[in-house]
Amino acid sequence: MLNLVFLGPPGAGKGTQAVRVSAQLGLPHISTGDMLRSAIREGTEIGLKAKQFMDAGNLVPDEVVIGIVRERLAKPDCAAGYILDGFPRTIPQAEALDMVTEITAAVNIAVADEALVTRLSGRRSCTKCGHTTHVSMYAGENCPVCGEVLVQRDDDKPDTIRNRLAVYNKNTQPLIDYYQAQGKLTAVDGSQPVDEVFGAIIGALTGQAS
Ligand code: AP5
Repeated sequence: MLNLVFLGPPGAGKGTQAVRVSAQLGLPHISTGDMLRSAIREGTEIGLKAKQFMDAGNLVPDEVVIGIVRERLAKPDCAAGYILDGFPRTIPQAEALDMVTEITAAVNIAVADEALVTRLSGRRSCTKCGHTTHVSMYAGENCPVCGEVLVQRDDDKPDTIRNRLAVYNKNTQPLIDYYQAQGKLTAVDGSQPVDEVFGAIIGALTGQAS
């Protein structure tokens, strides 16, 4: 069983890699960002609570996010493992996670801040199927997977990106030490091309040279 956490700053490629690793290893991909954006689109109570925090690039309160992750991990498809993308993001979230499950490995995808700003400001996402691309990789206006229009995420504007990076440094970076202390941290150089980052992650998880 592989219970995985993908760590890394905004734009490190957690979502991009989680989609690929999920397909390769047959594990469900659980993205708290995607779950919250879908709650906002559906106008649920959680979505209404989350919107103001997300639009400003701040973290949604721990109790809200911990609740939705607990519920999701209790579903049958998580019994044989899962990939958590964007959770935990604070020490209290990591402690709450440790109370309901045992994490096998935390994959930390590291990328320098300057590259993150370029990645986030050029990111385009599909509102229908969630596919993510970048203006430097794909010039079309419609999703190459489902044909829906691609949009820029509301929190991918310059000021919000800066705040998200500051929030990451303050609240989420301490998780690197948290998982290191548990002997569960796997560090990957996220500045490489997408295929190479993927190879490095699979290599680290399966114990093969990449
Ligand atoms: P969330 O959706 O989780 O955003 P994030 O962590 O800021 O991460 P991103 O989705 O921005 O980046 P990513 O690392 O997945 O990179 P991607 O693969 O897209 O969270 C959004 C908000 O929700 C938070 O700010 C918060 O408000 C709330 N939230 C979510 N979880 C929460 C929690 N646990 N607690 C509290 N609040 C929470 O790649 C980025 C771009 O780079 C793409 O264009 C991609 O094509 C490109 N790219 C990817 N890999 C490479 C590569 N190797 N080389 C070149 N380009 C690449």
